[in-house]
Amino acid sequence: SKFDLVVVNGLVVTASDISSFDIGIKDGKIHTLAPSFSSEDIGDAQVIDAEGAMVMPGGIDAHVHLCQDQKTDIGGGKCADNFETGSRSAVCGGTTTMVTFATQTRVEEDRSLLKVVEAYDARAQATGSYIDYAFHIIIVRDDKDVLEEELPVLVEKWGITSCKVFMTYETMRLQDYQLLDVMLAALKNSITTMIHAENGDMIEWLTQKLESKGMMAPYFHALSRPPSVEGEAANRAIVLAELIENPILFVHVGSSASANVIRAAQTRGLPVFAETCPQYLNLTWEDLKRFHSPTCFENSKMICSPPPSPDSSDQDALYIGLHNGTFTIFSSDHCPFKYDDPHGKMVGILDHEPSAATDGVPLTELAHKKVGRFSLIPNGIPGVETRLPLLFTRGVSTGRITPQKFVELTATNPAKLYGLYPRKGAILPGSDADLVIWHPEGALTSFKLTNEHLHHNVDYTPYEGMEFGNWPRYTICRGKVMWANDVLLGKPRDGQYLKRGPNQLGKGVAHFKKDPRRVAAWVHE
Ligand code: URP
Ligand code: ZN
Ligand code: ZN
Ligand code: ZN
Repeated sequence: SKFDLVVVNGLVVTASDISSFDIGIKDGKIHTLAPSFSSEDIGDAQVIDAEGAMVMPGGIDAHVHLCQDQKTDIGGGKCADNFETGSRSAVCGGTTTMVTFATQTRVEEDRSLLKVVEAYDARAQATGSYIDYAFHIIIVRDDKDVLEEELPVLVEKWGITSCKVFMTYETMRLQDYQLLDVMLAALKNSITTMIHAENGDMIEWLTQKLESKGMMAPYFHALSRPPSVEGEAANRAIVLAELIENPILFVHVGSSASANVIRAAQTRGLPVFAETCPQYLNLTWEDLKRFHSPTCFENSKMICSPPPSPDSSDQDALYIGLHNGTFTIFSSDHCPFKYDDPHGKMVGILDHEPSAATDGVPLTELAHKKVGRFSLIPNGIPGVETRLPLLFTRGVSTGRITPQKFVELTATNPAKLYGLYPRKGAILPGSDADLVIWHPEGALTSFKLTNEHLHHNVDYTPYEGMEFGNWPRYTICRGKVMWANDVLLGKPRDGQYLKRGPNQLGKGVAHFKKDPRRVAAWVHE
């Protein structure tokens, strides 16, 4: 027949438009958009009746950590999700594409970025993925030969067009000199540089001071990273990038201090992009002491870096940033560690200096005592499945952002920024048939989330007990119905690896100022 699958009676939302039409899907692609299909058009195709609900491009989550153990100065931890469980959780929350990290470390075998990517590729192949996936490369050293020889191969062979660098964590951070090296090498290969902007020296200094006063419980993590830590680093990275004239994206922006310097750089015409995440709109420092007492270890469940904003006024500022374009994309930063696990958040207890008081005491009991050390707790929280429903409930349903803005932030802009558009992030003839279909307005009674709802391999959610007003009813990946009415129908080998192209969001306008003294005028020779 003409189509394999049709979606009828949908209120179709794209980054620009919202209107009612039917969608015909053939061979995994969007084939036809029409006001209404006849029964002849439909033939024996599978039919999904959206019943008037919003139909959007499937979510693209451009910030997901899978199979990425944390072995840094902030402790260590075993990543709880692999490509199978992470992508399973993603698809049940309406996400159809994820960009995950392949990370270099400072061990000698990881000098080669190509070897690093091959290792992560093998991890993905080992289990398969429910949804399509791609890689960003994390670069933690500035070996000139590697950057020169391997970056072109990463682009050509693997379609990896984005790299992430860190300004904090002793075992990962690059100094300013090294940041310039990587930015220039990235620019030469049309690679977008993603920046983890936190001032590592400030964090180290504050952590030492806190520890010397015995302020080590999870709650104090936030005090080791006040917003100026992020604001200073963001400003410095902008100054460095302005010198090189390369496009940068700030990942996981968590405070107005950082959003403000980013906004100012954008106003100067620089190609500066930014991402924020659900935790910064839905959690505050207060949530770090939500459980029991400021000394309870259970608060380690909320530890991520940067920490959630100090209060709800910062959340309001971040919503303004979503609305006014300061933020280009909205991603989860899903970085899963189990709580009740000696390889998870409990590392912060186990690695605590051994003492007679803690010897042989079960972990869960220790967790309720005044032990543990925030500086050793793995940083990161799960959220790949809750990303879209949280923003829908708190952003779209409240009217803070339009449905079109939601699509722009969660699908269309990530696709453009990371070179996947219009294959992904669009509902156009020829685009992959990746769709998320919500419940019709008012059809789903709002419910309180529990971790049992979720499909990750993590034993908690930071959003336990929060009210959700809607949830993806159907998730469709390349024409296959993967999730329908709370039932997972997809398989872990349905997803494919995606080679990506360059950033499609432009180079800004600042480079039109042709000053012969500017660095970019002579540095390339
Ligand atoms: O705390 C966080 N965000 N952990 C994930 C790793 C990172 O820096 O993105
Ligand atoms: Zn980061
Ligand atoms: Zn991250
Ligand atoms: Zn407790």
